[in-house]
Amino acid sequence: MSLWLPVLLALFISVLGGLHLLGAFRRRRPKEPPLDKGHIPWLGHALDFRNNTVEFLQKMQRKHGDIFTVQIGGYCITFVMDPFSFGSIVNETRSKFDVSHLKKQLVARAFGYHCLENERKSLEATNKHLMGDGLVIMTEAMMKNLQKLMLYSIGTVKNQKEWQYDGLFHYSSNTTFRAGYLTLFGNETVKSMGSKEKAEEFDWVHSEELFNEFRKYDSLFPNLVYAMLPLKGKLEAERLKRLFWNVLSFKKTMQKDNVSRWIIDHLQLRQEQGMAEYMQARFMFVLLWASQSNTASASFWLLFFLMKHPEALKAVKEEVEKVLKETNQEVKPGGPLINLTRDMLMKTPILDSAAEETLRLTSAPALIRTIMQDMDFKMPDGREYALRKGDRIGIFPYISVHMDPEIHPEPHQFKYDRFLSPDGIKSANFYKNGKKVKYFTMPWGGGKSMCPGRFFATNELKQFVFLMLVYFDIELVNADKEILPINQNRLGLGIVHPTHDIQFRYKLRF
Ligand code: HEM
Ligand SMILES: *[C@@H]1O[C@H](CO)[C@@H](O)[C@H](O)[C@H]1NC(C)=O
Ligand SMILES: *[C@@H]1O[C@H](CO)[C@@H](O)[C@H](O)[C@H]1NC(C)=O
Ligand SMILES: *[C@@H]1O[C@H](CO)[C@@H](O)[C@H](O)[C@H]1NC(C)=O
Ligand SMILES: *[C@@H]1O[C@H](CO)[C@@H](O)[C@H](O)[C@H]1NC(C)=O
Ligand SMILES: *[C@@H]1O[C@H](CO)[C@@H](O)[C@H](O)[C@H]1NC(C)=O
Ligand SMILES: *[C@@H]1O[C@H](CO)[C@@H](O)[C@H](O)[C@H]1NC(C)=O
Repeated sequence: MSLWLPVLLALFISVLGGLHLLGAFRRRRPKEPPLDKGHIPWLGHALDFRNNTVEFLQKMQRKHGDIFTVQIGGYCITFVMDPFSFGSIVNETRSKFDVSHLKKQLVARAFGYHCLENERKSLEATNKHLMGDGLVIMTEAMMKNLQKLMLYSIGTVKNQKEWQYDGLFHYSSNTTFRAGYLTLFGNETVKSMGSKEKAEEFDWVHSEELFNEFRKYDSLFPNLVYAMLPLKGKLEAERLKRLFWNVLSFKKTMQKDNVSRWIIDHLQLRQEQGMAEYMQARFMFVLLWASQSNTASASFWLLFFLMKHPEALKAVKEEVEKVLKETNQEVKPGGPLINLTRDMLMKTPILDSAAEETLRLTSAPALIRTIMQDMDFKMPDGREYALRKGDRIGIFPYISVHMDPEIHPEPHQFKYDRFLSPDGIKSANFYKNGKKVKYFTMPWGGGKSMCPGRFFATNELKQFVFLMLVYFDIELVNADKEILPINQNRLGLGIVHPTHDIQFRYKLRF
């Protein structure tokens, strides 16, 4: 008997411990937001959240109001749906709401990268290269690379007058991925290839191969992040990771020409801190994904919405032609390529508005932080809630702002001039309950971890569309088809994808 007692006691304790881990004892304490644990232990609402993030959060909001705590895969996440509270969440110090903890887990799982001690500092130290003078250099390189890829030939516009057919998603992501990759990660040296033509040819072939592998990896990405890949997908993801680690190795990157300062500085910083070279290659893969995945799909959506709305296409076309004319440039067969400078890109308010509208409709990041201490959270309307250390706090601007019909009337419609004021400049006047909304779109996140590539990304989108419109006539093959449905599985991760590709055709205008 006396022998059994400790055994029973141990059993009892481990069952209790298990129940605790499953979240069975979690109760709402006074002053805490409404708690909804779901019916399945530990998983909680994970399946609903994954299956349809928008529907799930809207359901919870109807049930509990604009702040609530839900259990998802062993964690309690407090979602704040009130856009007036966003500023204080994204601006809160890291000692209260920390972003690195979750990002660490994500990059380890998806890219095999294990962070530095002071990873955030290193990230922030390199951001300057994505702004100011660094941005001018990158924008010029991007401009050249885009034109090379679009026009298949080097240096001049080839005379090619027949319609070409392609999937629009495929064409846009193909072009922007490859141009972005060469711009950031550099091109082959003339020295190692013998001639400029050989080097260009190598870049052409190599970037195309890499694009194909990237598309495969990117399509596995959502399930990889949520640890929901079947075995076959896991093996494929493993193969692709190794391939990218190899292609982006420290040695190979250092041998290239015209590698961007942003990449060089990241490598140098890590070299100085003694990071192993194989780990640096993994970090290069993180940067490749961060810089290419969203841009590729955003470029598709922008062109798609323009083609779908002829009045928008017409307005943007007139604008880019005007800008071109002002710099005395003209596109003609056998003529020189266009020199599309950053100055020119700053004179396109209509295109800016169309791009912002595209991001409003298609960007759906969930911004989630770890709560680092027990604390009180004040909402601007005076309500106050207790938050628990170890829980998470999240916002989902796609529902709370992008799709709110009060802030953006007819939110499902693409209105290219939504962000233009009547006098033709950028509009920032959006209201809810009679109060001005400061964060009226949030495609880039917010606060200290806000996307540092946002200026470059915006330029890439604009350059891509600008050049497409001045060089080509473009149209959807089946223009009156219904609007494209979005694939739910990227809600929460960034720019959504369409459920399927759509055919378009293009031919040289001149
Ligand atoms: C349309 C294109 C893009 C979109 C919609 C986008 C969006 C985002 C979002 C939502 C985040 C997370 C912010 C947060 O956690 O608060 C992020 C992070 C990041 N993005 Fe972008 N991004 C785009 C393009 C780019 C490009 C072109 C680059 C690089 C040249 C880039 C580099 C990064 C990096 C390095 C981070 C991590 C920042 C950190 O944790 O401090 N992104 N991006
Ligand atoms: C996922 O959501 C769709 C609707 O968005 C629904 O029809 C389907 O039953 C859901 N599946 C699961 C497994 O919950
Ligand atoms: C958040 O910080 C930014 C930059 O420091 C500042 O412009 C903004 O006003 C802050 N927002 C709020 C709501 O405190
Ligand atoms: C490499 O890229 C730079 C721009 O960054 C460009 O000027 C140069 O012509 C490219 N070299 C080759 C061989 O393509
Ligand atoms: C990418 O686009 C180029 C032309 O722009 C084309 O030659 C190539 O076949 C495309 N890549 C793929 C993978 O289809
Ligand atoms: C690209 O690199 C080559 C070789 O280092 C250099 O001569 C050239 O000026 C660079 N081009 C640009 C646009 O930086
Ligand atoms: C394009 O124009 C800018 C500014 O006028 C100039 O600095 C640059 O050298 C030009 N680039 C090319 C490729 O002509």
